[in-house]
Amino acid sequence: MSTSIESVLHETRVFPPPAAFVAQANVSGQAAYQALLDEADRDPNGFWGRLARENLQWTKPFTQVLDESNPPFYKWFGDGELNVSANCLDVNLVNGNADKIAIIFEADGGEVVKVTYRQLHERVCKFANALKSLGYKVGDRAIIYLPMSIEAVVAMQACARLGVIHSVVFGGFSSKSLHERITDVGASLVITADAQMRGGKAIALKPAVDEALGMGGCEAVRHSIVYRRTGGEVAWDAKRDLWMHEIAEKQSADCPPVPVNAEHPLFILYTSGSTGKPKGVQHSSGGYLLWAKLTMQWTFDAKPSDIFWCTADVGWVTGHSYITYGPLAAGMTQVVFEGVPTYPDAGRFWKMIQDHKVTTFYTAPTAIRSLIKASDANAAHHPKSFDLSSLRLLGSVGEPINPEAWMWYHINVGGERCPIVDTWWQTETGGHMITPLPGVTPLKPGSCTTRLPGITAAIVDETGGDVEAGHGGFLVIKRPWPSMIRTIWGDPDRYQKSYFPSELRGYYLAGDGAQCDADGCFWIMGRIDDVLNVSGHRLGTMEVESALVAHELVAEAAVVGRPDATTGEAVVAFVVLKRSRPEGDEAIAIGKQLRDWVAKEIGPIAKPKEIRFGENLPKTRSGKIMRRLLRVVAKGEEVTQDVSTLENPAILDQLSKPV
Ligand code: WT7
Repeated sequence: MSTSIESVLHETRVFPPPAAFVAQANVSGQAAYQALLDEADRDPNGFWGRLARENLQWTKPFTQVLDESNPPFYKWFGDGELNVSANCLDVNLVNGNADKIAIIFEADGGEVVKVTYRQLHERVCKFANALKSLGYKVGDRAIIYLPMSIEAVVAMQACARLGVIHSVVFGGFSSKSLHERITDVGASLVITADAQMRGGKAIALKPAVDEALGMGGCEAVRHSIVYRRTGGEVAWDAKRDLWMHEIAEKQSADCPPVPVNAEHPLFILYTSGSTGKPKGVQHSSGGYLLWAKLTMQWTFDAKPSDIFWCTADVGWVTGHSYITYGPLAAGMTQVVFEGVPTYPDAGRFWKMIQDHKVTTFYTAPTAIRSLIKASDANAAHHPKSFDLSSLRLLGSVGEPINPEAWMWYHINVGGERCPIVDTWWQTETGGHMITPLPGVTPLKPGSCTTRLPGITAAIVDETGGDVEAGHGGFLVIKRPWPSMIRTIWGDPDRYQKSYFPSELRGYYLAGDGAQCDADGCFWIMGRIDDVLNVSGHRLGTMEVESALVAHELVAEAAVVGRPDATTGEAVVAFVVLKRSRPEGDEAIAIGKQLRDWVAKEIGPIAKPKEIRFGENLPKTRSGKIMRRLLRVVAKGEEVTQDVSTLENPAILDQLSKPV
């Protein structure tokens, strides 16, 4: 558990919701929130059933809300049928939104393309028809490896329209990670692009797909459909490769949505766990979409006049729930951005908010912290140099936000008038779980505050007993909720063991340590497992260790996290080579080689910030690596713990020094 967060527990500032915001909020005032909480706690099935009927269009109404006959394999609205794409697009053609802008796309280089709901619907239908003509149907799996684009939203929505289960792989992942996901999910289709533009540079994507498909085990993949983003040269396999625009243009703009069971998997999204193998988190259609839409209305106070902007990539769950599905289901206009916050300069976000008159802005603490630094260095990139008066609400996601960054965001971006919703949730939860409601909750910098109605979040000890306020414990969710993970694809056993350990009375174990204060506000203290959070991205230490030991020079490796002022946590790797311990320039050269190797094996996000070489690793007499000691030396701190169980205490000295 990271200790850097302990300082926030002394945070005492409280910011009540601004009266002007409360007056117009979808959930307005404490009494309205309390009424929803009470309704959900008194009669959960009645509560969820009412919301599902009111917020989604069902082609076959459900008669049972929750089936808990086989815990933890819960079913929600299990005999109902609907189509997710129809609930995001078709509904907006008949409710007055047809000519409303659905997406304002801004490319890396600044070009802007806008599509209305009618146009988006047409593009999704044409692409879905193309997939259908190639024989793809309900239950097939498609890997999507695309840049941030309208095409990415179209591809995901087209899959949903046919009941094809998508699994989006973030464009920063390597061919090897891609291969692992293609084979694990059993994909028969890959949708990719020639390249992506980031920070003015074209980064090829298709070669990684070609490489992955050549690694073996991908024989089920029949087509690789390519979005032409840059028009650069690409290798082409005429039997397998198809241009996205070519196959879509000749199709009809009418594609009836395929009704699927509410429990039909909408998508599988891989995330890191405490073993080396990423977990394929399986989400449902009905329960998932319900929560994506409702949290737009509750947490983001969605209004018809809003311009919403979530800066996440569709390769992460945030981009699924708060780009591809939630905002469209809520009929909003949203900005989709291809590029990076620092190109052409660090004023990019603020300029885009100004240009597109963004009202609701949702980003990660890492981005905020790096932009604080950049605007300190150059006043022209400071938010105060832009007109941000359109903003009315700010959000934060992915990692704890430190109070200093919170205050800076509040003052300089929000002009001290915009509430900040610090949303705690996970790939597995599908949508927000613990978050302020902007028209209800007094805000505390660094706290994600209180649970949403229907979400039974609590802090418990190792036997599942409630922990009192002011004491740390495990963050759990006591009762199932509609947008929860359904299983780990192909590994129901791991699902049960990872999230519902028997000692915890059937509660969902989030994997975070946290505590509640006397007002019932939650403070997240960091992961309790071997998972790191680097720039809001989840990374398993074992994944990085496996990548390192796969290198021919490496005998052994141990990876830990170290608090980092910008990225939240940074990866530090302790490595023992098969040959003698390198020093000086040689250590620097091998360190670089290993860092590049990890980037190639997993992706650049997994690159260790620092590698330290030792003749050995600190081990107990039974051979167990003592990671808790490594965490101490990684921080540059003196080891004050008892090291009497250590086989080789002298090794700590050697590992204390950076190369
Ligand atoms: C882990 C989940 C939430 C979608 C993006 C990340 C950490 C997430 C917060 C927050 C403190 C947070 C937790 C969680 N986390 N949001 N507001 N405050 N910590 O999804 O990759 O599944 O990671 O991110 O540790 O368990 P993810």
